[in-house]
Amino acid sequence: MRLDRPVVFGNWKMNGLRAEGLALAGALAERAVRLTGTLGIFPPFTLIHAVAQRVKDTAILVGGQDCHERASGAFTGCVSAPMLADAGAKAVILGHSERRHGFGETDALIRAKFRAARAAGLLVVLCIGETEAEYLAGERRSRLVAQLAGSLPEGIGPEGLVVAYEPVWAIGTGRTPSSDEIRAIHGELRALLAKRIVGGEAVPLLYGGSVKPENAAEIMALSDVDGVLVGGASLDARSFWSIYRAGGGA
Ligand code: 13P
Repeated sequence: MRLDRPVVFGNWKMNGLRAEGLALAGALAERAVRLTGTLGIFPPFTLIHAVAQRVKDTAILVGGQDCHERASGAFTGCVSAPMLADAGAKAVILGHSERRHGFGETDALIRAKFRAARAAGLLVVLCIGETEAEYLAGERRSRLVAQLAGSLPEGIGPEGLVVAYEPVWAIGTGRTPSSDEIRAIHGELRALLAKRIVGGEAVPLLYGGSVKPENAAEIMALSDVDGVLVGGASLDARSFWSIYRAGGGA
């Protein structure tokens, strides 16, 4: 899958009943028949099929927000990667901090999910990020290194992978790291990926955490920032589209 810059992904989280989800997808579909960059939306499981149908004549990519590590079986309440693909998803977010911290997901589990997602042909958007306590304790770098090392399977290539740096303390808070910090971290992540994966320097790196139309241009102009992963501001078609435009997308 080719991912032209800017890569702008919207994580709807647990938001959207059918009517509003389809209205949002429809409003984006009108703007995104052809795109110079990459625009993706990640609705809740219940809307993936309907949203994928709604945007099928456009360049918009649809993905899930999580998947199980097994393809099928007695796992009440879970959704597998082949099920996501069957519903029309082309991608899946894994390791989001709300899964890591709210549901106790470990790097080992995320790595297993990663394998399952790739086996189903899904693009993986792997999220990593430090908590505020880790940030204040000066443990940010070691945390990110550990998360990358623990959740990337051995022997993978750069294709089908996007890494999103989302500091936990910036998610939904209106706070973001400074531009210098984001640039420095993304540069380090690029170097780490190049060391770990053959061709890893080509993996798109997204920043996520309180991205809005007002700060999107500055963030996406930074070196080693290939795009953004947007939460709250992706629930409004106008803001989401203006974030995409702020990154140079048309
Ligand atoms: P906000 O943009 O609402 O801070 O959320 C970011 C996020 O968690 C995207 O995955």
